[in-house]
Amino acid sequence: MKKPTAAEASLSRQTFNRLRDLVREHAGIDFPDEKRYLLESRVKPRLLAQEVPDFETYADRLEQGDTREIARLVNAVTINETAFFRHPSQFEALEDTILPELVRLHHQERSGPMRLWSAACSAGDEAYSLAILIRETIGPRHPRMDYEIVGTDIDTEVLEEARAGRYRKRSVRNVPPAYLRDYFDRSGEAFVVDPAIRDMVEFRPLNLTDAQDMRRMRNFDLIMCANVLIYFNETSKKNVLQGLYRSLRPGGYLFVGGSEALGGLDVPLEPVRHEGALAYRRPTNGSVSSRA
Ligand SMILES: C[S@@+](CC[C@H](N)C(=O)[O-])C[C@H]1O[C@@H](n2cnc3c(N)ncnc32)[C@H](O)[C@@H]1O
Repeated sequence: MKKPTAAEASLSRQTFNRLRDLVREHAGIDFPDEKRYLLESRVKPRLLAQEVPDFETYADRLEQGDTREIARLVNAVTINETAFFRHPSQFEALEDTILPELVRLHHQERSGPMRLWSAACSAGDEAYSLAILIRETIGPRHPRMDYEIVGTDIDTEVLEEARAGRYRKRSVRNVPPAYLRDYFDRSGEAFVVDPAIRDMVEFRPLNLTDAQDMRRMRNFDLIMCANVLIYFNETSKKNVLQGLYRSLRPGGYLFVGGSEALGGLDVPLEPVRHEGALAYRRPTNGSVSSRA
């Protein structure tokens, strides 16, 4: 009888458990039982690329510690959906109140550059949106202020896309027309981020569930970490949030995704509502008020 090929391979419950444990261990991403077919479809191209006949052989290889392939597995299972100015109300809150407040703090303290972090930045849309907003709003009023904008993601392939700064029309659908005109060049169907904006952002690999990676990220004025906590289980979510808390300077702000409330997660961040956006602030004195 002819042996089944990788293209015909199917993922048994037992091997699903092995692969999902590996993904959870290395990226914190949780695949509940009902997502078995999603994991199967995401991993199957890796079987073909590695020329292994079935999921069992592939899982053996990963469990033997093939770190390059583990990184490729993680790249294959991440969901990278993103867009420029994805949550417009968050950017309005930044422009109207949060960035001016952070500038005032810097002036009072005469501290170094303002530090902004797009955590789980995917193809870089959010990090470049921050750069454009700074260039448009704070930059002209405070020309001596310095900024560091960092975009990080666990997915090394999507970071290459971020560095290239080329986008489809769908990604720029929320960009105001004046910004589109001033900060993007057209190249055929693509929208290419202006080099001056690209130079404002540094992209680096970082795993939010890796304590060592997180210890390197300190003293941020603003962290945007949207639409990634939803992929973690409660324990990972709690650990990641505690890490993000420690990465904020006192008085610094965190944004998560619109549907990712932090209630019950036991981090001493103060919810601050700005019109349609909910931000979280690290208190300056360690106490948390009931302002929401
Ligand atoms: C749906 S995208 C969200 C992108 C962007 N934050 C936004 O809101 O538009 C989720 C991103 O989280 C990244 N991700 C998943 N697990 C991660 C982890 N453990 N550490 C860092 N990034 C992770 C994925 O690679 C993916 O690019």
